Formats: sequence, C-alpha cells, structure tokens
Amino acid sequence: MKNKVLLFSFFLLYASIPTNAREVGLGYYKHKGTCSCSDAESIVKSVVEEALKKDRGVGAALIRLLFHDCFVRGCDCSVLLDKSARNPYPEKQAKINIGLGGFEVIDEAKILLEKRCPGVVSCADILAFAARDAVEILNGIGYNVTAGRLDGKVSSASEADQNLPPPTFNRQQLEDLFVTKKGLTVEDLVVLSGAHTIGQSHCSSFTNRLYPNIDPTLDRDFANNNLRMQCPQNAYVDGVVNLDHVTPDALDSQYYKNVLDLNTLFSSDWSLLTSQETRDLVVEYATKPGDWEADFAVSMPKLSNLNLITNPAEGEIRKCCRAVNNY
Ligand code: HEM
Ligand SMILES: *[C@@H]1O[C@H](CO)[C@@H](O)[C@H](O)[C@H]1NC(C)=O
Repeated sequence: MKNKVLLFSFFLLYASIPTNAREVGLGYYKHKGTCSCSDAESIVKSVVEEALKKDRGVGAALIRLLFHDCFVRGCDCSVLLDKSARNPYPEKQAKINIGLGGFEVIDEAKILLEKRCPGVVSCADILAFAARDAVEILNGIGYNVTAGRLDGKVSSASEADQNLPPPTFNRQQLEDLFVTKKGLTVEDLVVLSGAHTIGQSHCSSFTNRLYPNIDPTLDRDFANNNLRMQCPQNAYVDGVVNLDHVTPDALDSQYYKNVLDLNTLFSSDWSLLTSQETRDLVVEYATKPGDWEADFAVSMPKLSNLNLITNPAEGEIRKCCRAVNNY
C-alpha cells in the first residue's frame, strides 16, 4: 500500500514537471493534442460582438486593456488580477489605470471556454483575441495574433506606475518607454497613439492643461468652448470626455487631424509634433487615407506579443482570470 502511494506520488510529480516551453503560434488552439480547443477564437469573437452590440465603448476599453496589460510584465493578463489578501496592490489599484474596463468581457469568454475545454485557453490569449476582434468590429481592420501566451502570477500597482505612460509625458519620455524599454519603434508609438481616436478620458487626466491657465499647446477655442465646459474647475465629480471630439466612436485616423489642430486632450498627444520624425508620421496619417489603418494592423500584433511568458515554470493557465490558481 505504502509503495503504491509512493509510486503514485512520483507519477504526480513527474506529470507536473514542465518539460517543454510552450510554443507560440498562429491558430494555436486548432492544433491537435492536449492544447486543442478549436472553437476558442470564435467563442471569444462572439462574446466581443455581443458586448459591443450593447456598448461600443467596450471596444475602446478592450484596446486600452491590452496596452495596459502588455506594457506591464508583458501580455500575461496580470492586469486582470483582483486585489486579494495576499496581494492588496495589484495593477488595478494603480492610479495610472484609472478608467480601465472590459474585464467582464474577458471573464465571460473565459467562463464559456472553461466549459468547452477546461484549463486550455489562457486569459492572456483571450485578451489578445478580444482586442483584435474589437478592432475588426469597430473598423474592419483585420490582423492575426499568435496564441500560446501563459498567464502571469504577479501583478503589482507600482510596476504599472513604472511601465505605463502618464498623459504628461513628453516625446522623449514616450520614446524612452516605447523604444528603449519595450523594444518597439518610434513609428509604433505614433501608430498606437492613434487609438486615442475612440473612447473617453476622465477630466482629471488633463485639467492641468485647462486651469488656472490654458496650456499654449492646446487650441484656445477648443479649450474654452469645449473642454472647460465639460470639465468645470473644482467640479464635484470627475466627468468623462470623448478623446476624439470630431468622430468619437469611430476607430479612424481623425486623431492625427486633432493632433495637428491642437485638439487632443493630453500633452503626450501634442508631443508627437515635437520631432521631425514623429511630426512627419502624424501628417502622413492625417492626410493619406488608409496609411494608418495598414500600419495599425502591423503595430497591434507587435504590442500583443510583448514579453510573452512561454516557460511553464513562470506562468499558468488560470482557471479564473481574476485570480491566480493557487490562491
Ligand atoms: C502614448 C502614450 C499614452 C498615454 C500617455 C495614454 C494616456 C491615456 C489616458 C490618460 C487615458 C484616459 C484615462 C482616463 O482618464 O480614464 C487614455 C485612454 C485611452 N487610451 Fe491611452 N495612452 C497612451 C497610449 C495608448 C495606446 C498605445 C493605446 C492602445 C493601443 C491607448 C488606448 C487608449 C484608449 C482606447 C483609451 C480610451 C479608453 C476607454 O474609453 O475605455 N492609449 N490613455
Ligand atoms: C491571417 O491568417 C490566415 C491564415 O494563415 C490568412 O489566411 C489571413 O489572410 C490572415 N489575415 C490577415 C489579416 O493577415
């Protein structure tokens, strides 16, 4: 009897030793074998479609959620982890994550996928698929993302603060973060900033440009007639304002026209005018139809692939996207 128990525990030990790093690839869940879950991508897509039918704003939330996940410890869904007794300050608690949303969409897809193929599809992959689907539904811009990401076990508010850009960043600071720290390009920075063509911001994220004086890098009329109206000084509640006041719900290249017109909310947006290279790109995307869409479909997969965890010792397939497995 004792021997049997011993043998069995050796078996368990063996079975739990990770042998190979996961391989990341296209159509990952369609492959045969233990990692199969052929409906994974279509299930995620139908959940995203339903969510956007009810509220298009969820699309913006999902795109920002991917960015805020991938810049902090890579695309490991660390952003979804809720605070717990063991981890009272996860990324969600960081001030820089103000207004973050779309969590419920990931939860819902995960619940359906756990019924269909338990323990197979990572939350990090669900988020990458969901952001891609949101982009496609909003604009028709299609791109492929590989899969096979593992979910991380660590989530820290201070790491979010260290790895995400505040709206006050200047161009040099943005380039240091995107290029030097994250290995993206200046073009990726300009292209991805175009996501500020949809969605909303809290007043508190930019009222420093409105009061006491209007920031000279902000158009005076826009500030007076639009932003100051929507965000009164010393307001009791922190209101929300559309990022793109011309075509607020359209995932289009209007953002770049707004940048040229000094009609964007954040000084980080304006700062794209402060070097020849970034300014030239802004002008290109503002004036050449189709250029931004084509480049967005290149930069988004790069964002979706930042610093993936492929070593099973460092990651897992979470059962619930809001908590690590051995909670
Ligand atoms: C370049 C540096 C960036 C800065 C400084 C920045 C800053 C911000 C800020 C302050 C907000 C408003 C948060 C609030 O007050 O509620 C916001 C919203 C948003 N950001 Fe960024 N962001 C940057 C880059 C990006 C990138 C790369 C993406 C995606 C590819 C992105 C997508 C979005 C979206 C879609 C929203 C609206 C979210 C919603 O309506 O739910 N941003 N950003
Ligand atoms: C995505 O990959 C599939 C299969 O490899 C391919 O047929 C399709 O054209 C790709 N889509 C895009 C937008 O690149």
